[in-house]
Order: sequence, then structure tokens, then C-alpha cells
Amino acid sequence: MLALGCDHGGYALMQEVKAHLEQQGIAYLDFGCSSPDSVDYPDYAVKLGKSIQDGCSNLGILICGTGIGISIAANKMTGIRAALCSDCFSAQAAREHNDANVLVMGGRVLGPGLACKIVDTFLQSSFSGDERHVRRIEKITEIEQQEEA
Ligand code: RB5
Repeated sequence: MLALGCDHGGYALMQEVKAHLEQQGIAYLDFGCSSPDSVDYPDYAVKLGKSIQDGCSNLGILICGTGIGISIAANKMTGIRAALCSDCFSAQAAREHNDANVLVMGGRVLGPGLACKIVDTFLQSSFSGDERHVRRIEKITEIEQQEEA
């Protein structure tokens, strides 16, 4: 299941992304926000991250104004690999190399056309499973474990 989350800076772009997903019949869980009123982006990163940690979702899309704050917040969560992408090449590599489980975009950075192409690329790509990429992701997991100890 795909999870969605945004703050007010990402609200308008998220409406475009939702319409694009619906056109393709792609189901999603929507963790808000639900209006352009000002909110705090870490709250939405946590809601979406918990959904992935709980196994309710396997992939997510987060959008704030720049994509920066919400990606920093999401990447503090164990098991979350959030990739801030502004191009399709990065979105593909994020899945194939980094096994990113969250795509992050900047609602004040990207137009809807490019953003929807980035979403399609991310969702249509998958982890390569190459040994070197597995090894590097395992090292990221080790960093998390050391931080939690
Ligand atoms: C909100 O104004 C803005 O700071 C937020 O959406 C995001 O860009 C933070 O990184």
C-alpha cells in the first residue's frame, strides 16, 4: 500500500499527485494534511513513517515546501529511507540502488507534470538486489542500530 503525507507547503502539489494516482487506479492511504492551513511537517513524516514501520504501507510519498524538512524528519525514523528527488533519474536510482521506501518532493520546487513523472518512475522501479547495494543498505541499518543502542 502507498502512503501519502504532506504539510501546507506540499498541499497543492499533493492534490495533483492524488488525482494522478486515482486516474491510474492506484490506491493510497492519506495521512494529510487536509487543507492549506499551516501545520508542522515532522508530524506528517511521523504519521507516514509509522505506517511503513507497522507494515500498513510499504511505500510512501511525502511533500513539503522544499522537501527538505520532511525528508530530514522521515529519515530519523528506523527503517525509513526517504529520498528527496527532483528528477526521474534520481527517483529510479533511489529505488534501484538505495531501496528507498519514501519519495520526497518539494511542492514549491516542482511543477505537477514533472512531479507526476517522478512519482511514476519511483513506483515503477524496484530494488536491484545487487550485492553491493545490499551491503551499503545494511551499513545504514547498522548506523540506526548503533544510534538506538
Ligand atoms: C513551510 O513553510 C516550509 O518550511 C516547509 O514546507 C518545508 O519547506 C520545510 O523544509
